[in-house]
Parts: sequence; structure tokens; C-alpha cells
Amino acid sequence: MLTMEQVYEVLGNMQEPFLHKSLTELDAIQEVKIKEEKAHVSVKILLAKTGTAEQMQVQQEVVQRLKSAGAESVGLRFAELPEDVIANLQPQGTVGGGHSILNSNKTTFVAVASGKGGVGKSTVSVNLAVSLARLGKKVGIVDADIYGFSVPDMMGITERPKVRGEKIIPVERFGVKVISMGFFVEDNSPIIWRGPMLGKMLNNFFDEVEWGELDYLLLDLPPGTGDVALDVHTMLPSCKEIIVTTPHATAAFVAARAGAMALKTDHEILGVIENMAYFESKLTGEKEFVFGKGGGEKLAEELRTEVIGNLPLGQPQIDEDDFAPSVYGEDEQIGKIYMTIARRVAELA
Ligand SMILES: Nc1ncnc2c1ncn2[C@@H]1O[C@H](COP(=O)(O)OP(=O)(O)O)[C@@H](O)[C@H]1O
Ligand SMILES: [Mg+2]
Repeated sequence: MLTMEQVYEVLGNMQEPFLHKSLTELDAIQEVKIKEEKAHVSVKILLAKTGTAEQMQVQQEVVQRLKSAGAESVGLRFAELPEDVIANLQPQGTVGGGHSILNSNKTTFVAVASGKGGVGKSTVSVNLAVSLARLGKKVGIVDADIYGFSVPDMMGITERPKVRGEKIIPVERFGVKVISMGFFVEDNSPIIWRGPMLGKMLNNFFDEVEWGELDYLLLDLPPGTGDVALDVHTMLPSCKEIIVTTPHATAAFVAARAGAMALKTDHEILGVIENMAYFESKLTGEKEFVFGKGGGEKLAEELRTEVIGNLPLGQPQIDEDDFAPSVYGEDEQIGKIYMTIARRVAELA
């Protein structure tokens, strides 16, 4: 018959797959119970991350070890180790060695979401990233719109990322590190990803990319509340969100769904950005609210958050020598509004 001590002994030297310490060292074996008559052992194990492939392996090994030691049946539960234990043991380096930006506690993740396409979500993501970099922040951007990737073109990126060892080095432009699906397809050909591949791709963008130290990692999400948005919600439980909408009432209504999803998954909404809010005549300075008015404010109210900025219609001035069709200059009117938005975002998160 197995005893409690034996259970601790049999499992104690197993390695926790993320922190590479023994279960005993981590005090990760808990709630051991033994039902004598049926030789049933139940135990709770703490890991740095649950719901992973690594957990599956630990699961198999625990069952196997306990059965070899005489258990007839095994009941297993998993939970996460306390945060301070994980933080103290996490490898701190920035280079290689399985370090993933997902484990960084210095990086603030900000997802930019919208209810539908065409409202300027990518434009906002790109310019917010560039403006945060202009404030001296270390910034990365993940073009998570893996079907409709547009960030490289918008920023005028013609390079491709380099590979160093097993890591992908993001392309840097205007002080922002960029990764996009667009870097990995030939000739603008369309790609069809099946469900599980989506999440895997996204995971690669975090795990296989050498981001270095970042203050902010922005994610340009695909429009709506589909697979990728969901993956992001589960992969980045502490991700903050910005919702982009146009001032039109129905746009705001649709955007509310993206907001509702953020709230449901406990993502903090930093605020709403109203894009294409108005047109300002260069001749008279008069503002015309061509796409309606008040959508952003109404949405912010509904989501119990604030409007971080209202951006007018207008194209960036094109600099032939430093071509980036969607990046506003720091001295342009819209560029200045983006700086104000970036300062507010830096205050909030
Ligand atoms: N404030 C703006 N003024 C004028 N055009 C804009 C503005 N914001 C975005 N656009 C244009 O609108 C189109 C859609 O923007 P985009 O950022 O690609 O939207 P989304 O990512 O939401 O689909 C692009 O052609 C972009 O250049
Ligand atoms: Mg887009």
C-alpha cells in the first residue's frame, strides 16, 4: 500500500517543465489523498503554466510513476504556481534560451481591436506604436491580422526579418520592431490557415521572435471577434485593449461587440479611439462631421471607459526618401494628435 511519504518521494524529483526545478523544490505537490481500499491516489500538482502540452507530459509521467509504485488508479488536478514563485525563477536574459516575450513582466501588451474592418485599426496601431517610440519607449508591433496583414506595407518596410540561431529578428522601422505574417508569404499570395494553425502562428510570433526588452507590444488584431481575437484573449490574460471605431452609430454598435468580448475575458479596456472623426477644411478651418458624430463617446460610455482620442480624416505627407504611406510625421497635425494619444496610453498602462 502506498503512503503519503511514498507519493512525495515518487514524484518529488520530477522536473517542472517551465522552471526546470523539481516539484519538491517548488512545493508543487499538494493535496495528496489516498483511498486505501481501492489504492486510489489523488494529487494536485502546481505548474508555471497549465493547459499546455508540457502539462500533458507531466500528467502522463505522474500517472505512470504512481502506477509503478502500486496505485491502481490516479486522480490528477493541475493549478498554477503562485506568481511570485514564477517571477523569482523565470530566466531573466533577453537572448534565446527559450525566453518568450509572453513571460516578460516588464512588457505591457496592448491589443488594438475593432468591430469591423476598414475603420483604421491598422493605421492606429502603426501610428500609436511609432508615437510611443517617439516618446522614447521600446515598442514592438505584432501584425496579428494574419489574413489581412498590412503593417509592413503601411510602414514602408521592404526588408524581411533575419534568422539568428533559432530566433527570428524582427524588422525595425521608425524605432518599432515589427513582425507580420506578410513577411512569411511569397508574392502577396493568400493564405488559408485552419483553426489550430492560427493560434500556433500567433504563438510563434511571441515565442520564436527575439523581441529583446520591450515596454509595449502592440497587437493589430483582425477585425471582429473571431479565432485570433479569442486566441489572444487566452494567450495574453493580462492584455490591455484599445477599441477603434468611426463616429457612425452603427460602427460604434458593432465595435461594442469587440469591447464586450474584452470585458468578458477580463481584459482591461484602456479606451476608445474615434478615427475619421471629422474633416477639417484647410480653407476655413471648419469641421465637418462627415461620418456622423458621437459614436466614440457612446461606445466609451457603454464600455465604461474614456475616449483617448479623435482623429480627423487626412493622409500623411509623403516623404519620397523615407516612404511609409500610413505613418504621420511628428509635426503634422494628425501626428501631434497621435503623440497626445501615446502620452495618454503611457499614463494609463
Ligand atoms: N484618419 C484617416 N483619414 C484618412 N484615411 C484613413 C484614416 N484612417 C485610416 N484611413 C485609411 O482607411 C483605410 C482603412 O484603414 P486601415 O487602418 O487599413 O483599417 P483596418 O485595419 O481597420 O481595416 C486605409 O486605406 C487607410 O489609409
Ligand atoms: Mg487592418
